[in-house]
Amino acid sequence: MTQEIALTGIKPTGTPHIGNLFGAIQPAIAMAKSYSALYFIADYHALTTVRNQKAMQEQIRQVAATWLAAGLNPDEVIFYRQSAIPEVFEFTWVLSCLAPKGLMNRAHSYKDAVAKNEAKRLDSDKGVNMGLYNYPVLMAADILLYSAHKVPVGQDQKQHLEIARDIAQAFNQSYGELLVLPEPIIQEAVQTIPGIDGRKMSKSYDNVIPLYLPPKDLKKRINQIVTDSKGVDEPKDAESCNLFQIFKLFATPQRIAEVELAYTEGGLGYGHLKAELFELLDTFVAPGRKTYTHYLTHPQELDRILAQGAKKARAIAQAKLKQVRQAIGMDS
Ligand code: ADP
Ligand code: TRP
Repeated sequence: MTQEIALTGIKPTGTPHIGNLFGAIQPAIAMAKSYSALYFIADYHALTTVRNQKAMQEQIRQVAATWLAAGLNPDEVIFYRQSAIPEVFEFTWVLSCLAPKGLMNRAHSYKDAVAKNEAKRLDSDKGVNMGLYNYPVLMAADILLYSAHKVPVGQDQKQHLEIARDIAQAFNQSYGELLVLPEPIIQEAVQTIPGIDGRKMSKSYDNVIPLYLPPKDLKKRINQIVTDSKGVDEPKDAESCNLFQIFKLFATPQRIAEVELAYTEGGLGYGHLKAELFELLDTFVAPGRKTYTHYLTHPQELDRILAQGAKKARAIAQAKLKQVRQAIGMDS
């Protein structure tokens, strides 16, 4: 039996944070043990929002270095940049011709943009570029070109997977069973990691703890975790305290229990707990930070790894596109 394929794309839209590590990167790396995995940097998807050459380049490298630092083995996983595979854009056109426009009108990110404009009584398509509108078609091409069976994604990407399946079905109906219908793998079990302000940790809220900060900056960021202003001796509520929620991710069960008790009984200072969290987090990220810094200071090594992945990915893409071109009557 041939091994099933797992594939996912990661948008280089900012510096990766601990939410990304627990919610996406670690589960995907674990999946690569039992699937034939293709993981890529979705740089052309990022172009729908990132409009600065330097930022784009930096973010691509930061994301690539983060995955390698988190343990992705480029000899086991095909790791590449979306933009290195021109076949995906030809395939995007083919799929666009099978994608009902109404389906794109209903895609969440487009619909949200329209709703925001309408709420402000602006033209409904103000600020909407065709990249945002076609986003789901490019994503379908990313997935279907490699015949992926499983696609690990966050909950917010579920609709995009449904769209990819619908487009694949439309293609297969016209041309025979050439495309594999992909299934999303949604990490329900992974908790949502809170940010320094207690909301979901997210680049969009500017509340993240970036993964591989230098120790000095990491300490500063941890000191910015928002708490209430209760004094050391006062009893406190651990459950609603985001400092405790973040602490729990890194401490031993015994230490968690001790700290929880100190919350209830009083005698715990937030400053002390932040210092302890810094030590834990610093130890946790130290090995990865070394790898991360190495790659960011040797970008040519990163480029080499991504080029090696692109070569393998491209061979798969070319073979599939050839079948597609034959199926639609472009090649004999
Ligand atoms: P952000 O919200 O920072 O822009 P993305 O939307 O780029 O993050 O997230 C990429 C993946 O990282 C998501 O699919 C999700 O699985 C995971 N992720 C992001 N933030 C968190 C979080 N706070 N807790 C758990 N997982 C998260
Ligand atoms: N849209 C995804 C996100 O925002 C990124 C992505 C692009 C992707 N192409 C993909 C994810 C293909 C899975 C498969 O997170």
